[in-house]
Amino acid sequence: MQNQVRLSPIDRIKRAIVAQYPILYLRTWEEDRAEKMVQTIAKSFSQTVPIYIWTVSEGLRDAKSTVPATTDPAKALDFIIKEGEPGFYILKDFPTFLKDNPTLIRRLRDAYYALKEKARFLILLSTSFHLPEELTKEVHLIDIPLPGEDEIAPLLDFMANRYFRTPIADEKLRNNTIIGLKGLTINEIQHVLNALFFGQPQFHPAMIEQVLVEKEQITKKEGLLEFVFPRFRVEDIGGYGVLKDWLAKRAKIFNKDAEKSGVSVPKGLLMMGISGCGKSLAVKVVSTLWNLPLFRLDMSKVFSGAFGAPEEAFSRAISTVEAVSPAVLWIDEIESGMIGVKEGASGPASRIFATFLTWMQEKESLVFVAATANRIDLLPAEFIRKGRFDQVFFLDLPDEEERKSIFGVHLARKGADLNRFDLVILAKATPDWNGAEIEQAVLSAAVEAFNENQPLSQNHLTRIVTRTIPLSRTMTEQIKYIKSWAHTRALNASRFQ
Ligand SMILES: Nc1ncnc2c1ncn2[C@@H]1O[C@H](COP(=O)(O)OP(=O)(O)OP(=O)(O)O)[C@@H](O)[C@H]1O
Ligand SMILES: [Mg+2]
Repeated sequence: MQNQVRLSPIDRIKRAIVAQYPILYLRTWEEDRAEKMVQTIAKSFSQTVPIYIWTVSEGLRDAKSTVPATTDPAKALDFIIKEGEPGFYILKDFPTFLKDNPTLIRRLRDAYYALKEKARFLILLSTSFHLPEELTKEVHLIDIPLPGEDEIAPLLDFMANRYFRTPIADEKLRNNTIIGLKGLTINEIQHVLNALFFGQPQFHPAMIEQVLVEKEQITKKEGLLEFVFPRFRVEDIGGYGVLKDWLAKRAKIFNKDAEKSGVSVPKGLLMMGISGCGKSLAVKVVSTLWNLPLFRLDMSKVFSGAFGAPEEAFSRAISTVEAVSPAVLWIDEIESGMIGVKEGASGPASRIFATFLTWMQEKESLVFVAATANRIDLLPAEFIRKGRFDQVFFLDLPDEEERKSIFGVHLARKGADLNRFDLVILAKATPDWNGAEIEQAVLSAAVEAFNENQPLSQNHLTRIVTRTIPLSRTMTEQIKYIKSWAHTRALNASRFQ
Protein backbone atom coordinates (compact mmCIF):
# COMPACT_ATOMS: atom_id res chain seq x y z
CA MET A 1 0.00 0.00 0.00
CA GLN A 2 2.76 2.34 0.98
CA ASN A 3 4.89 2.30 -2.14
CA GLN A 4 1.88 2.60 -4.37
CA VAL A 5 0.73 5.70 -2.59
CA ARG A 6 3.97 7.59 -2.88
CA LEU A 7 4.12 7.45 -6.68
CA SER A 8 1.31 9.24 -8.46
CA PRO A 9 -1.15 6.85 -10.17
CA ILE A 10 -0.05 7.93 -13.62
CA ASP A 11 3.58 7.20 -12.74
CA ARG A 12 2.60 3.80 -11.45
CA ILE A 13 0.86 2.93 -14.70
CA LYS A 14 3.79 4.22 -16.69
CA ARG A 15 6.22 2.20 -14.66
CA ALA A 16 4.17 -0.96 -15.20
CA ILE A 17 4.17 -0.33 -18.94
CA VAL A 18 7.88 0.28 -19.05
CA ALA A 19 8.27 -2.95 -17.08
CA GLN A 20 6.32 -4.67 -19.90
CA TYR A 21 3.39 -5.96 -17.91
CA PRO A 22 0.96 -6.77 -20.72
CA ILE A 23 -2.16 -6.85 -18.52
CA LEU A 24 -2.90 -4.07 -16.06
CA TYR A 25 -5.92 -3.97 -13.82
CA LEU A 26 -6.84 -0.44 -12.80
CA ARG A 27 -9.21 -0.28 -9.92
CA THR A 28 -10.98 3.05 -9.97
CA TRP A 29 -14.30 4.82 -9.58
CA GLU A 30 -13.30 7.20 -12.30
CA GLU A 31 -13.30 5.68 -15.75
CA ASP A 32 -12.80 9.00 -17.49
CA ARG A 33 -9.81 9.83 -15.38
CA ALA A 34 -8.22 6.43 -15.95
CA GLU A 35 -8.84 6.75 -19.67
CA LYS A 36 -7.21 10.18 -19.74
CA MET A 37 -4.21 8.83 -17.84
CA VAL A 38 -3.77 6.07 -20.41
CA GLN A 39 -4.04 8.64 -23.22
CA THR A 40 -1.41 10.85 -21.63
CA ILE A 41 0.92 7.92 -21.18
CA ALA A 42 0.33 6.69 -24.74
CA LYS A 43 1.12 10.15 -26.11
CA SER A 44 4.31 10.31 -24.08
CA PHE A 45 5.50 7.26 -26.01
CA SER A 46 4.27 8.34 -29.43
CA GLN A 47 1.66 10.69 -30.87
CA THR A 48 0.23 8.00 -33.10
CA VAL A 49 -0.07 4.97 -30.88
CA PRO A 50 -3.64 3.65 -31.16
CA ILE A 51 -5.96 3.37 -28.17
CA TYR A 52 -8.85 0.95 -28.36
CA ILE A 53 -11.79 0.91 -25.97
CA TRP A 54 -13.88 -2.17 -25.34
CA THR A 55 -17.33 -2.18 -23.77
CA VAL A 56 -19.79 -5.03 -23.72
CA SER A 57 -22.35 -2.84 -25.46
CA GLU A 58 -20.21 -1.66 -28.38
CA GLY A 59 -17.34 -4.09 -28.62
CA LEU A 60 -13.86 -2.94 -29.55
CA ARG A 61 -13.40 0.44 -31.23
CA ASP A 62 -10.62 2.91 -31.86
CA ALA A 63 -10.88 6.59 -32.70
CA LYS A 64 -12.16 5.82 -36.19
CA SER A 65 -14.18 2.65 -36.27
CA THR A 66 -15.60 -0.34 -34.48
CA VAL A 67 -14.18 -3.85 -34.87
CA PRO A 68 -17.15 -6.02 -35.88
CA ALA A 69 -18.35 -8.92 -33.72
CA THR A 70 -16.31 -8.15 -30.63
CA THR A 71 -18.94 -7.47 -27.98
CA ASP A 72 -18.27 -10.95 -26.59
CA PRO A 73 -15.25 -10.51 -24.26
CA ALA A 74 -13.61 -13.73 -25.50
CA LYS A 75 -13.94 -12.60 -29.12
CA ALA A 76 -12.43 -9.25 -28.27
CA LEU A 77 -9.45 -10.98 -26.67
CA ASP A 78 -9.05 -13.26 -29.69
CA PHE A 79 -8.97 -10.27 -31.98
CA ILE A 80 -6.35 -8.48 -29.90
CA ILE A 81 -4.16 -11.58 -29.72
CA LYS A 82 -4.42 -12.55 -33.40
CA GLU A 83 -4.87 -9.30 -35.27
CA GLY A 84 -4.28 -6.46 -32.85
CA GLU A 85 -1.67 -3.83 -33.61
CA PRO A 86 0.73 -2.50 -30.98
CA GLY A 87 -1.15 -0.08 -28.72
CA PHE A 88 -3.39 0.21 -25.70
CA TYR A 89 -6.61 -1.72 -25.22
CA ILE A 90 -8.84 -0.36 -22.47
CA LEU A 91 -11.36 -3.02 -21.48
CA LYS A 92 -14.16 -1.56 -19.37
CA ASP A 93 -15.80 -3.75 -16.70
CA PHE A 94 -13.92 -6.72 -18.13
CA PRO A 95 -13.13 -8.26 -14.73
CA THR A 96 -16.84 -8.79 -14.00
CA PHE A 97 -16.99 -11.24 -16.92
CA LEU A 98 -14.27 -13.41 -15.45
CA LYS A 99 -16.50 -14.57 -12.64
CA ASP A 100 -17.35 -18.28 -12.99
CA ASN A 101 -15.97 -18.24 -16.52
CA PRO A 102 -12.99 -20.63 -16.74
CA THR A 103 -12.79 -20.29 -20.53
CA LEU A 104 -12.34 -16.56 -20.35
CA ILE A 105 -9.84 -16.88 -17.50
CA ARG A 106 -7.83 -19.28 -19.66
CA ARG A 107 -7.99 -16.88 -22.60
CA LEU A 108 -6.72 -14.03 -20.48
CA ARG A 109 -3.80 -16.16 -19.32
CA ASP A 110 -3.09 -17.00 -22.96
CA ALA A 111 -3.21 -13.30 -23.74
CA TYR A 112 -0.52 -12.67 -21.16
CA TYR A 113 1.92 -14.96 -22.95
CA ALA A 114 0.85 -13.92 -26.42
CA LEU A 115 1.15 -10.19 -25.77
CA LYS A 116 4.25 -10.20 -23.59
CA GLU A 117 6.85 -7.91 -25.13
CA LYS A 118 4.64 -7.26 -28.14
CA ALA A 119 3.87 -3.66 -27.11
CA ARG A 120 0.18 -4.48 -26.84
CA PHE A 121 -1.23 -3.60 -23.44
CA LEU A 122 -4.54 -4.68 -21.98
CA ILE A 123 -5.90 -2.23 -19.43
CA LEU A 124 -8.76 -3.72 -17.45
CA LEU A 125 -10.96 -1.21 -15.67
CA SER A 126 -13.24 -1.91 -12.78
CA THR A 127 -14.55 -0.18 -9.68
CA SER A 128 -13.72 -3.14 -7.50
CA PHE A 129 -11.20 -5.89 -7.36
CA HIS A 130 -12.42 -9.31 -8.42
CA LEU A 131 -9.61 -11.31 -9.86
CA PRO A 132 -9.73 -15.10 -9.86
CA GLU A 133 -6.85 -16.71 -7.97
CA GLU A 134 -5.46 -18.24 -11.19
CA LEU A 135 -4.74 -14.83 -12.68
CA THR A 136 -2.96 -13.11 -9.85
CA LYS A 137 0.48 -13.75 -11.38
CA GLU A 138 -0.37 -12.49 -14.84
CA VAL A 139 -2.34 -9.41 -13.96
CA HIS A 140 -0.71 -6.33 -12.48
CA LEU A 141 -3.05 -4.48 -10.15
CA ILE A 142 -2.93 -0.73 -9.76
CA ASP A 143 -5.24 1.05 -7.41
CA ILE A 144 -6.07 4.55 -8.51
CA PRO A 145 -6.84 6.52 -5.40
CA LEU A 146 -8.80 9.72 -5.35
CA PRO A 147 -7.14 12.73 -6.95
CA GLY A 148 -4.39 14.40 -4.97
CA GLU A 149 -3.65 18.10 -4.58
CA ASP A 150 -1.57 18.09 -7.77
CA GLU A 151 -4.64 17.15 -9.79
CA ILE A 152 -7.21 19.17 -7.87
CA ALA A 153 -5.27 22.45 -8.09
CA PRO A 154 -5.34 22.80 -11.91
CA LEU A 155 -8.99 21.76 -12.01
CA LEU A 156 -9.92 24.39 -9.41
CA ASP A 157 -7.98 27.05 -11.33
CA PHE A 158 -9.69 26.03 -14.54
CA MET A 159 -13.16 26.22 -12.99
CA ALA A 160 -12.44 29.54 -11.24
CA ASN A 161 -11.20 30.94 -14.54
CA ARG A 162 -14.27 29.75 -16.33
CA TYR A 163 -16.72 31.33 -13.86
CA PHE A 164 -14.80 34.33 -12.50
CA ARG A 165 -12.26 34.87 -15.27
CA THR A 166 -9.50 34.67 -12.70
CA PRO A 167 -8.05 31.99 -10.43
CA ILE A 168 -8.46 32.39 -6.65
CA ALA A 169 -5.92 35.09 -5.83
CA ASP A 170 -5.59 34.53 -2.10
CA GLU A 171 -3.13 31.64 -1.80
CA LYS A 172 -4.44 30.53 1.60
CA LEU A 173 -8.06 30.41 0.45
CA ARG A 174 -7.06 28.57 -2.69
CA ASN A 175 -5.15 26.01 -0.63
CA ASN A 176 -7.97 25.53 1.83
CA THR A 177 -10.38 24.95 -1.03
CA ILE A 178 -8.06 22.35 -2.53
CA ILE A 179 -7.78 20.58 0.81
CA GLY A 180 -11.55 20.78 1.22
CA LEU A 181 -12.03 19.05 -2.13
CA LYS A 182 -9.76 16.14 -1.25
CA GLY A 183 -11.71 12.93 -0.86
CA LEU A 184 -13.87 13.51 -3.94
CA THR A 185 -13.53 12.16 -7.47
CA ILE A 186 -12.77 14.50 -10.37
CA ASN A 187 -16.38 14.29 -11.52
CA GLU A 188 -17.67 15.07 -8.05
CA ILE A 189 -15.32 18.02 -7.76
CA GLN A 190 -16.64 19.37 -11.05
CA HIS A 191 -20.25 19.00 -9.90
CA VAL A 192 -19.57 20.64 -6.56
CA LEU A 193 -17.72 23.59 -8.10
CA ASN A 194 -20.31 24.08 -10.84
CA ALA A 195 -23.05 24.18 -8.23
CA LEU A 196 -21.15 26.61 -5.99
CA PHE A 197 -19.78 28.96 -8.63
CA PHE A 198 -22.84 29.19 -10.86
CA GLY A 199 -24.36 32.66 -10.83
CA GLN A 200 -21.77 34.01 -8.37
CA PRO A 201 -19.77 37.11 -9.27
CA GLN A 202 -16.60 35.96 -7.52
CA PHE A 203 -15.06 33.41 -5.20
CA HIS A 204 -16.20 33.83 -1.63
CA PRO A 205 -14.48 32.40 1.51
CA ALA A 206 -17.81 30.93 2.71
CA MET A 207 -17.65 28.59 -0.30
CA ILE A 208 -15.02 26.52 1.51
CA GLU A 209 -17.55 25.56 4.15
CA GLN A 210 -20.09 24.77 1.44
CA VAL A 211 -17.53 22.48 -0.16
CA LEU A 212 -17.30 20.55 3.12
CA VAL A 213 -21.08 20.32 3.43
CA GLU A 214 -21.30 18.95 -0.11
CA LYS A 215 -18.51 16.50 0.60
CA GLU A 216 -20.33 15.25 3.67
CA GLN A 217 -23.48 14.64 1.59
CA ILE A 218 -21.62 12.87 -1.20
CA THR A 219 -19.59 10.57 1.02
CA LYS A 220 -22.63 9.70 3.12
CA LYS A 221 -24.35 8.40 0.02
CA GLU A 222 -21.37 6.40 -1.10
CA GLY A 223 -20.92 4.69 2.20
CA LEU A 224 -17.76 3.00 3.28
CA LEU A 225 -15.81 6.10 4.28
CA GLU A 226 -17.81 9.06 5.36
CA PHE A 227 -16.44 12.56 5.67
CA VAL A 228 -17.52 14.15 8.95
CA PHE A 229 -18.08 17.88 8.93
CA PRO A 230 -16.07 19.65 11.67
CA ARG A 231 -18.91 20.75 13.95
CA PHE A 232 -17.47 20.28 17.44
CA ARG A 233 -14.69 22.17 19.16
CA VAL A 234 -12.70 21.28 22.21
CA GLU A 235 -14.91 23.61 24.32
CA ASP A 236 -17.83 21.29 23.55
CA ILE A 237 -16.40 18.57 25.78
CA GLY A 238 -16.79 18.94 29.50
CA GLY A 239 -14.01 17.38 31.57
CA TYR A 240 -11.37 14.92 30.31
CA GLY A 241 -8.52 17.30 31.07
CA VAL A 242 -5.79 14.67 30.59
CA LEU A 243 -7.07 13.76 27.15
CA LYS A 244 -7.45 17.40 26.11
CA ASP A 245 -3.94 18.14 27.28
CA TRP A 246 -2.58 15.17 25.33
CA LEU A 247 -4.32 16.37 22.19
CA ALA A 248 -3.31 20.00 22.62
CA LYS A 249 0.36 19.02 22.98
CA ARG A 250 0.25 17.20 19.69
CA ALA A 251 -1.78 19.70 17.70
CA LYS A 252 1.29 21.13 16.00
CA ILE A 253 3.18 17.88 15.47
CA PHE A 254 0.82 16.61 12.85
CA ASN A 255 2.26 18.09 9.72
CA LYS A 256 5.09 17.49 7.33
CA ASP A 257 7.38 20.14 8.84
CA ALA A 258 7.31 18.50 12.24
CA GLU A 259 8.06 15.20 10.55
CA LYS A 260 11.14 16.74 8.99
CA SER A 261 12.27 18.08 12.36
CA GLY A 262 12.41 14.52 13.64
CA VAL A 263 9.50 14.54 16.09
CA SER A 264 7.64 11.31 15.57
CA VAL A 265 4.17 11.80 14.20
CA PRO A 266 1.44 10.21 16.34
CA LYS A 267 -0.09 7.09 14.83
CA GLY A 268 -3.29 6.80 16.70
CA LEU A 269 -5.37 6.84 19.77
CA LEU A 270 -7.73 4.26 21.20
CA MET A 271 -10.55 5.45 23.38
CA MET A 272 -12.46 3.01 25.44
CA GLY A 273 -15.17 3.62 27.92
CA ILE A 274 -18.67 3.47 29.09
CA SER A 275 -21.38 4.19 26.60
CA GLY A 276 -22.48 7.82 26.33
CA CYS A 277 -19.32 9.23 27.86
CA GLY A 278 -18.26 11.14 24.80
CA LYS A 279 -15.88 8.84 22.92
CA SER A 280 -17.34 9.68 19.54
CA LEU A 281 -17.47 13.35 20.48
CA ALA A 282 -13.79 13.25 21.46
CA VAL A 283 -12.83 11.87 18.03
CA LYS A 284 -14.66 14.70 16.29
CA VAL A 285 -12.76 17.15 18.45
CA VAL A 286 -9.38 15.65 17.47
CA SER A 287 -10.00 16.65 13.89
CA THR A 288 -11.08 20.22 14.65
CA LEU A 289 -8.31 20.75 17.17
CA TRP A 290 -5.68 19.52 14.75
CA ASN A 291 -7.38 21.04 11.76
CA LEU A 292 -7.46 17.78 9.81
CA PRO A 293 -10.35 16.29 7.85
CA LEU A 294 -12.12 13.42 9.57
CA PHE A 295 -13.24 10.27 7.77
CA ARG A 296 -15.34 7.67 9.53
CA LEU A 297 -14.97 4.03 8.58
CA ASP A 298 -18.02 1.94 9.29
CA MET A 299 -16.81 -1.55 10.12
CA SER A 300 -20.28 -3.04 9.81
CA LYS A 301 -20.29 -1.88 6.19
CA VAL A 302 -16.85 -3.41 5.64
CA PHE A 303 -18.25 -6.76 6.72
CA SER A 304 -21.58 -6.36 4.94
CA GLY A 305 -20.24 -7.52 1.57
CA ALA A 306 -21.86 -4.53 -0.14
CA PHE A 307 -18.40 -3.14 -0.91
CA GLY A 308 -16.80 -6.36 -2.12
CA ALA A 309 -14.95 -8.91 -0.02
CA PRO A 310 -14.35 -7.49 3.49
CA GLU A 311 -10.54 -7.59 3.27
CA GLU A 312 -10.64 -5.81 -0.02
CA ALA A 313 -13.10 -3.20 1.22
CA PHE A 314 -10.90 -2.58 4.23
CA SER A 315 -7.69 -2.18 2.22
CA ARG A 316 -9.44 0.08 -0.18
CA ALA A 317 -10.67 2.30 2.64
CA ILE A 318 -7.14 2.53 3.99
CA SER A 319 -5.72 3.46 0.59
CA THR A 320 -8.41 6.08 0.21
CA VAL A 321 -7.59 7.86 3.47
CA GLU A 322 -3.92 7.64 2.66
CA ALA A 323 -4.68 9.40 -0.58
CA VAL A 324 -6.43 12.23 1.22
CA SER A 325 -3.94 12.45 4.08
CA PRO A 326 -3.13 14.27 6.27
CA ALA A 327 -6.37 13.11 7.83
CA VAL A 328 -7.93 11.47 10.85
CA LEU A 329 -9.40 8.01 10.30
CA TRP A 330 -12.15 7.26 12.78
CA ILE A 331 -12.91 3.61 13.38
CA ASP A 332 -15.94 3.58 15.61
CA GLU A 333 -16.69 0.61 17.83
CA ILE A 334 -13.73 -1.25 16.49
CA GLU A 335 -14.44 -4.29 18.64
CA SER A 336 -17.66 -5.02 16.77
CA GLY A 337 -15.71 -6.22 13.75
CA MET A 338 -12.96 -7.96 15.66
CA ILE A 339 -14.84 -10.09 18.13
CA GLY A 340 -14.32 -13.46 16.46
CA VAL A 341 -10.59 -12.86 16.28
CA LYS A 342 -9.87 -13.52 19.91
CA GLU A 343 -11.06 -17.08 19.64
CA GLY A 344 -8.47 -17.73 16.96
CA ALA A 345 -10.96 -17.88 14.11
CA SER A 346 -9.41 -17.65 10.66
CA GLY A 347 -12.11 -15.77 8.79
CA PRO A 348 -11.98 -12.36 7.14
CA ALA A 349 -12.08 -10.65 10.55
CA SER A 350 -8.73 -12.18 11.49
CA ARG A 351 -7.17 -11.21 8.19
CA ILE A 352 -8.46 -7.66 8.44
CA PHE A 353 -7.16 -7.50 11.96
CA ALA A 354 -3.71 -8.63 10.83
CA THR A 355 -3.69 -6.15 7.94
CA PHE A 356 -4.73 -3.39 10.28
CA LEU A 357 -2.01 -4.12 12.84
CA THR A 358 0.72 -4.29 10.22
CA TRP A 359 -0.49 -1.10 8.64
CA MET A 360 -0.60 0.67 12.00
CA GLN A 361 2.92 -0.43 12.74
CA GLU A 362 4.43 0.43 9.39
CA LYS A 363 2.41 3.33 8.12
CA GLU A 364 4.33 6.41 7.19
CA SER A 365 1.44 8.39 5.81
CA LEU A 366 -0.02 11.22 7.85
CA VAL A 367 -3.14 9.31 8.81
CA PHE A 368 -4.01 9.45 12.47
CA VAL A 369 -6.27 6.63 13.61
CA ALA A 370 -8.82 7.45 16.28
CA ALA A 371 -10.54 4.25 17.31
CA THR A 372 -13.27 3.87 19.89
CA ALA A 373 -14.40 0.78 21.75
CA ASN A 374 -16.98 0.05 24.42
CA ARG A 375 -15.69 -3.41 25.22
CA ILE A 376 -11.97 -3.20 24.72
CA ASP A 377 -11.61 -6.40 26.75
CA LEU A 378 -13.06 -8.22 23.75
CA LEU A 379 -10.19 -7.13 21.55
CA PRO A 380 -7.16 -9.35 21.02
CA ALA A 381 -4.32 -8.45 23.38
CA GLU A 382 -1.92 -7.44 20.54
CA PHE A 383 -4.22 -4.59 19.86
CA ILE A 384 -3.15 -2.44 22.73
CA ARG A 385 0.49 -3.39 22.71
CA LYS A 386 2.78 -0.38 22.59
CA GLY A 387 3.86 0.78 19.19
CA ARG A 388 0.48 0.65 17.54
CA PHE A 389 -1.58 3.25 19.30
CA ASP A 390 0.30 6.06 20.96
CA GLN A 391 -2.11 6.02 23.83
CA VAL A 392 -5.11 4.12 25.13
CA PHE A 393 -7.50 6.33 27.06
CA PHE A 394 -10.29 5.29 29.37
CA LEU A 395 -13.23 7.67 29.38
CA ASP A 396 -14.84 7.12 32.75
CA LEU A 397 -18.18 8.40 34.03
CA PRO A 398 -17.65 12.11 34.72
CA ASP A 399 -16.94 13.20 38.28
CA GLU A 400 -18.76 16.08 39.96
CA GLU A 401 -16.51 18.79 38.59
CA GLU A 402 -16.82 17.35 35.09
CA ARG A 403 -20.60 17.08 35.33
CA LYS A 404 -20.67 20.74 36.20
CA SER A 405 -18.88 21.64 33.02
CA ILE A 406 -20.96 19.23 30.91
CA PHE A 407 -24.14 20.90 32.20
CA GLY A 408 -22.48 24.20 31.34
CA VAL A 409 -21.69 23.08 27.77
CA HIS A 410 -25.22 21.93 27.03
CA LEU A 411 -27.03 24.79 28.74
CA ALA A 412 -24.88 27.25 26.83
CA ARG A 413 -25.68 25.42 23.62
CA LYS A 414 -29.39 25.96 24.35
CA GLY A 415 -28.68 29.65 24.76
CA ALA A 416 -29.42 29.62 28.50
CA ASP A 417 -27.94 32.26 30.82
CA LEU A 418 -25.57 30.25 33.01
CA ASN A 419 -25.77 32.78 35.83
CA ARG A 420 -29.32 31.67 36.46
CA PHE A 421 -28.30 28.07 37.17
CA ASP A 422 -26.64 26.45 40.14
CA LEU A 423 -24.37 23.99 38.41
CA VAL A 424 -22.99 22.67 41.71
CA ILE A 425 -26.42 21.48 42.81
CA LEU A 426 -27.10 19.91 39.42
CA ALA A 427 -23.76 18.10 39.48
CA LYS A 428 -24.36 16.84 43.01
CA ALA A 429 -27.81 15.58 42.04
CA THR A 430 -26.48 13.49 39.17
CA PRO A 431 -23.89 11.03 40.52
CA ASP A 432 -22.88 8.35 38.02
CA TRP A 433 -24.63 10.06 35.12
CA ASN A 434 -22.91 10.01 31.79
CA GLY A 435 -22.54 12.98 29.43
CA ALA A 436 -25.26 11.78 27.09
CA GLU A 437 -27.74 11.62 29.96
CA ILE A 438 -26.85 15.13 31.08
CA GLU A 439 -27.36 16.36 27.54
CA GLN A 440 -30.69 14.56 27.32
CA ALA A 441 -31.85 16.12 30.61
CA VAL A 442 -31.07 19.60 29.30
CA LEU A 443 -32.91 18.88 26.05
CA SER A 444 -35.99 17.53 27.85
CA ALA A 445 -36.01 20.46 30.27
CA ALA A 446 -35.89 22.81 27.29
CA VAL A 447 -38.97 21.11 25.81
CA GLU A 448 -40.87 21.49 29.09
CA ALA A 449 -39.88 25.15 29.33
CA PHE A 450 -41.02 25.73 25.76
CA ASN A 451 -44.42 24.14 26.45
CA GLU A 452 -44.84 26.29 29.54
CA ASN A 453 -43.84 29.31 27.51
CA GLN A 454 -41.05 30.10 29.96
CA PRO A 455 -37.29 30.47 29.70
CA LEU A 456 -35.38 27.33 30.64
CA SER A 457 -34.70 27.36 34.39
CA GLN A 458 -33.12 25.38 37.19
CA ASN A 459 -36.58 24.18 38.19
CA HIS A 460 -37.23 22.54 34.84
CA LEU A 461 -33.94 20.75 35.09
CA THR A 462 -34.41 19.63 38.68
CA ARG A 463 -37.75 18.10 37.78
CA ILE A 464 -36.23 16.05 34.97
CA VAL A 465 -33.19 15.05 37.01
CA THR A 466 -35.23 13.62 39.89
CA ARG A 467 -37.29 11.57 37.44
CA THR A 468 -34.31 10.04 35.58
CA ILE A 469 -32.53 6.80 36.41
CA PRO A 470 -29.06 6.76 34.89
CA LEU A 471 -27.88 3.78 32.87
CA SER A 472 -25.08 3.12 35.33
CA ARG A 473 -27.55 2.14 38.02
CA THR A 474 -28.86 -0.75 35.95
CA MET A 475 -25.42 -1.81 34.80
CA THR A 476 -23.36 -1.60 37.98
CA GLU A 477 -21.62 -4.94 37.56
CA GLN A 478 -20.62 -4.34 33.96
CA ILE A 479 -19.34 -0.85 34.69
CA LYS A 480 -17.33 -2.10 37.65
CA TYR A 481 -15.75 -4.70 35.42
CA ILE A 482 -14.87 -2.21 32.67
CA LYS A 483 -13.36 0.18 35.21
CA SER A 484 -11.17 -2.43 36.83
CA TRP A 485 -10.08 -3.75 33.44
CA ALA A 486 -9.15 -0.26 32.29
CA HIS A 487 -7.42 0.66 35.50
CA THR A 488 -4.22 -1.19 34.67
CA ARG A 489 -4.34 -0.95 30.90
CA ALA A 490 -5.43 2.53 29.93
CA LEU A 491 -4.77 6.11 30.90
CA ASN A 492 -7.68 7.80 32.62
CA ALA A 493 -8.82 10.68 30.42
CA SER A 494 -9.91 12.74 33.40
CA ARG A 495 -7.20 12.51 36.02
CA PHE A 496 -3.85 10.90 36.76
CA GLN A 497 -4.36 8.09 39.21
N1 LIG B 1 -17.86 14.98 28.32
C1 LIG B 1 -18.88 15.42 27.61
N2 LIG B 1 -19.05 16.75 27.39
C2 LIG B 1 -20.08 17.22 26.68
N3 LIG B 1 -21.01 16.43 26.12
C3 LIG B 1 -20.91 15.11 26.28
C4 LIG B 1 -19.84 14.53 27.02
N4 LIG B 1 -19.98 13.19 27.00
C5 LIG B 1 -21.07 12.94 26.26
N5 LIG B 1 -21.64 14.08 25.83
C6 LIG B 1 -22.87 14.23 25.03
O1 LIG B 1 -23.43 12.96 24.81
C7 LIG B 1 -23.53 12.69 23.41
C8 LIG B 1 -23.20 11.24 23.18
O2 LIG B 1 -21.81 11.03 23.38
P1 LIG B 1 -20.96 10.08 22.43
O3 LIG B 1 -21.79 9.60 21.34
O4 LIG B 1 -19.71 10.80 22.11
O5 LIG B 1 -20.68 8.92 23.46
P2 LIG B 1 -19.94 7.54 23.17
O6 LIG B 1 -19.00 7.37 24.31
O7 LIG B 1 -19.40 7.52 21.82
O8 LIG B 1 -21.14 6.54 23.35
P3 LIG B 1 -21.37 5.12 22.64
O9 LIG B 1 -20.43 4.17 23.30
O10 LIG B 1 -22.79 4.83 22.98
O11 LIG B 1 -21.12 5.30 21.20
C9 LIG B 1 -22.54 13.63 22.76
O12 LIG B 1 -22.96 13.97 21.48
C10 LIG B 1 -22.53 14.81 23.67
O13 LIG B 1 -23.51 15.71 23.29
MG1 LIG C 1 -19.87 6.41 20.10
